[in-house]
Amino acid sequence: MTATPPARTWSGRFDEPVDERVKRYTASVDFDRRLAPHDIRGSLAHARMLSEAGVISTSDLADIERGMALISSEIERGEFVWSLDAEDVHLNIERRLTDLVGDAGKRLHTGRSRNDQVATDVRLFLRDALDDIVQLIDGLQSSLVEQASRHAETLMPGFTHLQVAQPVTFGHHLLAYFEMFERDRSRLVDCRRRLDVLPLGSAALAGTSYPIRRERVAELLGFAAVSENSLDAVSDRDFAIEFCAAAAISMMHLSRLSEELVLWMSPAFGFIRLPDRFCTGSSIMPQKKNPDVPELARGKTGRAYGNLMTLLTLMKGQPLAYNKDNQEDKEPLFDSVDTLADTLAIFASMMAGLTVNAPRMLAALRDGHATATDLADLLVKRGMPFRDAHEAVARAVRAADDHGCELAALPAAVMAEFAGDAGPEVLAVLQAAGSAASRNLRGGTAPAQVRAQVERASALLKARLT
Ligand code: ARG
Repeated sequence: MTATPPARTWSGRFDEPVDERVKRYTASVDFDRRLAPHDIRGSLAHARMLSEAGVISTSDLADIERGMALISSEIERGEFVWSLDAEDVHLNIERRLTDLVGDAGKRLHTGRSRNDQVATDVRLFLRDALDDIVQLIDGLQSSLVEQASRHAETLMPGFTHLQVAQPVTFGHHLLAYFEMFERDRSRLVDCRRRLDVLPLGSAALAGTSYPIRRERVAELLGFAAVSENSLDAVSDRDFAIEFCAAAAISMMHLSRLSEELVLWMSPAFGFIRLPDRFCTGSSIMPQKKNPDVPELARGKTGRAYGNLMTLLTLMKGQPLAYNKDNQEDKEPLFDSVDTLADTLAIFASMMAGLTVNAPRMLAALRDGHATATDLADLLVKRGMPFRDAHEAVARAVRAADDHGCELAALPAAVMAEFAGDAGPEVLAVLQAAGSAASRNLRGGTAPAQVRAQVERASALLKARLT
């Protein structure tokens, strides 16, 4: 064993200690300690390869493994002493390792730099996070499919411009979100595929002269490939940007869903109820039950956008290769991971617990003359040019509003002025259920189509579980 190294691992050529404020300014340990398990994993793989390649001895490897096991348990138990003097997660761990096992700890960094080390850690972290998030999306999708199957026939107004447009089924509406999350999922899976590349071996920027075996490290860490260019590997963070972009898009979808939940839950709509455990009351107005979770999700979407913008801006002015700017990649990335993961997890159980007020949905449909298009279509089928039919029905809607009733309740004589007659055929097409059922083509709102889509979606989710 030799003496403990100087407080700062690189301080040999410096004449004076670093300014206290600068020390705090440049340190990242307060946030990058979250990378510790990945840092240790990467170091163990590197050490194993070094010993296999004869660069360090097998007894050095044994010391490093023993020391790292101790460090892991210190960190898990919350007993590890993180020090600002050691700047970041990498130097904190290396210093403790050297305290514990001496020279072997000082040999660990052979053929490596913090530049390729941190690039590796962040990729390992994000790869694990992506695996969790993809599963969380599956969970949310399952809740949506379950509700859709329950509500394949539940009628509600479909909206354009937030004005009642045509009848749709609630199941159809929910499955629209299934599709959005399906695309989000595929973006994340794609991002994982591109980041699954090992930077270690790039060292500071140019590679290393030690006879290391990068493929062996990739194998030990489960990376699909090794990076092809050391300058690129230590400097680019496009994989983190790509994740933050995918996360921003997914949060945007969650925010749209949130907006609908907030609207649907307002007494003016009264379409749904969310379980009490996802709502809060008002401290002053006793009647209130507020949809805090969707409101917060809508609000938190802003941070996901901000994180993306932060990373894009962080990267854009950097010359090759590594620059300290990159230390700023972590907080936005961690925040996007946490925001998306938490939101998905909560939405999965919230959507599973949502209940529907079907009579209110139906009443809104009637008030909005949602079947006006169906009447126009009937007139067209009877031979009237579409533009004339459109005009005739618009006048019928005006008359219904004047009478303060829905189209189907217009006095027969009045309806006959616009539709030629007010017989059973006319009354039939004005029924919301018939309107929805008639849109029976792939992608349409008919209950039969919703059931078919539920089948396809369930099969997809089931295949993912096995
Ligand atoms: N804490 C640094 C980061 O997060 C580690 C790499 C530092 N490398 C260096 N040469 N200063 O990027």
